[in-house]
Amino acid sequence: MKYDFNAVVQRNNTYSLKWDPIFLEDVFGRSDVLPLWVADMDFKCPQPVIDAIIDRAKHGIFGYVFREHNYNNAVIRWNKRRHNWDVKEDWLVYTLGIVTAVNQCVQVFCKPGDKVIIQNPVYYPFGEAILNNGCQIVHNQLIKKDNKYIMDFEGLNKKVKDPYVKMIILCNPHNPVGRIWSRDELIKLGNICIENNVIIVSDEIHRDLTFKGHKHIPFASISDKFAQNSITCTAPSKTFNIAGLKTSNIIIPNERLRKNYTQQLRRNSIEFANIFGIEALIAAYNHGEEWLENVLEYLESNVEFIDEFIKANIPNVTFIKPEGTYLGWLDFRNITEDINKLDNILINKAKVALDSGHWFGEGGEGFARINFACPREILESAMTRIQKAIG
Ligand SMILES: Cc1ncc(COP(=O)(O)O)c(C=O)c1O
Repeated sequence: MKYDFNAVVQRNNTYSLKWDPIFLEDVFGRSDVLPLWVADMDFKCPQPVIDAIIDRAKHGIFGYVFREHNYNNAVIRWNKRRHNWDVKEDWLVYTLGIVTAVNQCVQVFCKPGDKVIIQNPVYYPFGEAILNNGCQIVHNQLIKKDNKYIMDFEGLNKKVKDPYVKMIILCNPHNPVGRIWSRDELIKLGNICIENNVIIVSDEIHRDLTFKGHKHIPFASISDKFAQNSITCTAPSKTFNIAGLKTSNIIIPNERLRKNYTQQLRRNSIEFANIFGIEALIAAYNHGEEWLENVLEYLESNVEFIDEFIKANIPNVTFIKPEGTYLGWLDFRNITEDINKLDNILINKAKVALDSGHWFGEGGEGFARINFACPREILESAMTRIQKAIG
């Protein structure tokens, strides 16, 4: 492996949301917790990305920038090469981030009072985006079957019949349960939604992070009908650990949907780019593939480590092995079903900062999400702390 992902890189005093003691104190009530929560990696990003940013910094002028063909071509080629999806240049719309994009979608495609479906437990900013924009959440909870999550199609079929339901936010790969939805599952979901005039916002931010034996399928790549009724949210941010550069690409094949979305960007004046984000994306998509293959190998070995550790040392905890992402979903319900007790065990006894399962909505109680994109030393320390706290 060319890159050394075992190296521990200090992140203190870098304004890191994940590591900063002030932020940890605010969220967990103490600053001395080992952080394996916020979804970024504790690894340096690919060297070509670092070099591109340094080169740009040396230029010394940081005026306004826009994204042109070079940038677009890097995005288009990446979609073709990694996901076998032919994306046209004029389908591309930009945004600072995917949470911004999801909020925008609710603002543009729903009216206050309308309803939006999410499949909880799911990334919690989805629910916040719905409520913060005056809409209502419709929960279509995932079903846990044989230690794997599946979609509740029967529930979905009923819920889309409500005329106030205008949109579904699909998370693929799914944060936090780690599923990469199959073609059949996506086709079923797409047909149910489109027959009932429900737009699909497909958050595919984790799409490049897939493990052996699993393939991500872009929802919109399945058919023209799916493409015309969906908005796909993509970014290099999770893939290459560059979330702080705030550079994402929204893919909207339908002209009317795209026009409405773009108008909203202008209304908020957020259509322009981040200078370092442009350089980083181009370098990452054009020269970051070797790093990505290496990091995937390392992440997959961390999955095996957690699995073996739990089986050997804390067998009353269940690990739902992810098919992709760097987020693991741990089931502590054999230890306690009480969310406060579980928080207390993890935060005050184990002194680890994980995302509490209940943050992800119904079905998340008694679970916790662990971010395993860290050197093995940190992961091992966290798992040992959890083991000791459970006793
Ligand atoms: C499913 C999902 N969507 C969006 C985001 C955040 O995206 P952004 O930083 O581009 O707003 C995350 C980050 O964890 C995520 O897991």
